Amino acid sequence: MKIAVIGANGQLGADVAREFTRNGDDVCKLSHANIEIGSLQSVNDVLGQLRPQIIVNTAAMHNVESCEKEPLRAYEVNGLGSRNLAQVARQIDAVFAHVSTDYVFDGSKKEPYLEADPALPLNVYGNTKLAGEAFIRASVDRFFILRTSALYGTNPCRAKGGRNFVELMLKLAGERDELRVVDDEFVSPTSTSELARQIVVLSKTDNFGLYHATAEGCCTWYEFAAKIFNLAGVKTKLTVASPNEFPSKVPRPKYSVLENHALKTLGLNSFQTWEEGLRSYLSSRHLTN
Ligand SMILES: NC(=O)c1ccc[n+]([C@@H]2O[C@H](COP(=O)([O-])OP(=O)(O)OC[C@H]3O[C@@H](n4cnc5c(N)ncnc54)[C@H](OP(=O)(O)O)[C@@H]3O)[C@@H](O)[C@H]2O)c1
Repeated sequence: MKIAVIGANGQLGADVAREFTRNGDDVCKLSHANIEIGSLQSVNDVLGQLRPQIIVNTAAMHNVESCEKEPLRAYEVNGLGSRNLAQVARQIDAVFAHVSTDYVFDGSKKEPYLEADPALPLNVYGNTKLAGEAFIRASVDRFFILRTSALYGTNPCRAKGGRNFVELMLKLAGERDELRVVDDEFVSPTSTSELARQIVVLSKTDNFGLYHATAEGCCTWYEFAAKIFNLAGVKTKLTVASPNEFPSKVPRPKYSVLENHALKTLGLNSFQTWEEGLRSYLSSRHLTN
């Protein structure tokens, strides 16, 4: 099948393009230089010409601080960008697969969020991503929305200075005797290669709709760092940062753990635990003990 991957030079997009190629599909890799999703004209021109059967959108403005500073641009990319892609997908009769976020929730539930739980974002990023989801539902029937969390992959994350959390911790461990990491935010660290495989599997079905798509289980950032050091054999001292040591300028959910309920119901959930996913990532980078 002909697949257009938007954000193809990003952290997730690169793995999505690789996975569809491995699957034997004809992949058109679109970077920001090729398409501006905030412009309906650009989306129409590029996708109208290519006429893919599946459009996968991994592009977003997802640096939460930048979104807070530039809310209109965040809305243009995350909200209207999603609408533009969904409208053009409907016009050219393509399936639309889109990546969303755990940050649509406020974190007050304290147990894993299901797809049916009401979303209540705390910040501009979450609000604009939720707006994007609503536009997609209203614009096209054949859609997949996959909400995910705390991504890490071998391709650099473009919105976060090119280093994912795993690489950042390993770099800092090489530079310092002691590292302090917060222990009050729960996430499900998810490998982009696993998410990419899940997107390929799901997009070849007609089980359209909203999905939570993260690694199994959860941890705090401190626990994540501790596991990285444990698996990579790093001896740097790691301690829990006090609650106000790294005050966030932007409100974030303290608990954004998602349950892959819809995937499990269909028997399609292909995620490992976050520990297994991390081990696979580190071993692919030849960084395990
Ligand atoms: N990273 C995480 O921890 C995380 C967690 C939950 C959900 N997500 C979601 O996962 C998706 C992928 O994240 P990622 O980590 O792979 O991001 P990434 O590495 O920053 O890649 C995003 C890509 O989108 C492109 N892009 C940005 N704005 C665009 C626009 N207006 N038009 C066209 N292309 C544009 C970027 O190009 P330029 O850099 O050249 O602008 C980049 O290639 C996003 O939808 C994000 O909201 C991420």
